[in-house]
Amino acid sequence: MIQKIKDNIYWIGVNDYAIRNFHGYLTPMGSTYNAYLVIDEQITVIDSVKAPFTPLFLDNIKQLTGFDKIDNIISNHAEPDHSGSLPELARLAPQAKIYATANGAKIIKAYHGMDNINIVQPGQTLRLGATSLQFLPAPMVHWPDSMASYMPELKILFSNDAFGQHIASEYRFDDQLGMAVLDERTRDYYANIVLPFGMQVQKLLEQVGKLDIDVICPSHGIMWRTHIDDIVSRYQSWSHNETDPKKTVIAYDTMWKTTEMLAQRLADEAQSRGETVTLLNMADTHVSTAITAMLEAQRIAIGSPTLNRNVMATIGGLLTYVKGLAPKNRTGIAFGSYGWSGESVGIIEQAMDDMSWQREDSVKVNWRP
Ligand code: FEO
Repeated sequence: MIQKIKDNIYWIGVNDYAIRNFHGYLTPMGSTYNAYLVIDEQITVIDSVKAPFTPLFLDNIKQLTGFDKIDNIISNHAEPDHSGSLPELARLAPQAKIYATANGAKIIKAYHGMDNINIVQPGQTLRLGATSLQFLPAPMVHWPDSMASYMPELKILFSNDAFGQHIASEYRFDDQLGMAVLDERTRDYYANIVLPFGMQVQKLLEQVGKLDIDVICPSHGIMWRTHIDDIVSRYQSWSHNETDPKKTVIAYDTMWKTTEMLAQRLADEAQSRGETVTLLNMADTHVSTAITAMLEAQRIAIGSPTLNRNVMATIGGLLTYVKGLAPKNRTGIAFGSYGWSGESVGIIEQAMDDMSWQREDSVKVNWRP
């Protein structure tokens, strides 16, 4: 359902209630693909939606204006969850000028075969009438083409992937759902999508800090109008890899419970020091849940028995996933049991060293602690 944000500014996105796996990351509350419509002297669509939702998206537009009235289409980001409907919209509104960054134009051509894109420059302003859009490229938040668009007259930041959350809901604003719900979804979104790009997030935050903002309109989830300071300060903290020295995550798998005995012992010791411990058996835990638990944890222990001269596949997957997202400035502890060859602890140590984590003494036990 369409949502008015301010006079002549509308949310025209769609809810995806069914999605539970967003390119490898679990989304227990589904997601939305947000797009926006500005009705001014020049009518402008900002972003589109994932391809299967094209009919709903087009119907939202039709309720507010005719396709032949659209003057501009802004593509803040060409990942298919935001550009999937672009070809059909462009076909229905051939007169509309499409705007994207230079990288966006390349990706739109590669994905959709479209080459009629107007390339925007950092800080360039597109006047729409009483309102305007200033383009703020934010490369690698989340892809090389990513940008935000700012409307100074109404103090609206269309932030694209930044500040998003994967939540499908009939509610559209932060104060309607409340931070109790948003807390975990902002956390898992940052940990699984944004975490590798801390420096690029800081550059975006530097630009955002200079803006007067009433509403942040991201490309997923609810819009921020009440808790703007909260979400911006979370991004400040996470992008600087700030951690809680009292938070410990212990992630492991086990064959005959001996590595599990080590995990439990590490948990008991951490708890006796007053730390909050998250103990995750990776046989039953998705990697995206584990990295969310790690987002603010200073100490991260990873354990596996040796299996066929390697770690267990669950731990191999975890190490691959964590190394890709590369949380920084952590303290790692490798642990595991073995019978004869005993490679697992060394493999975990190497992964931690590859991420430049400090390491505490590893725990490697023959047969049984
Ligand atoms: Fe939501 Fe990077 O796309």
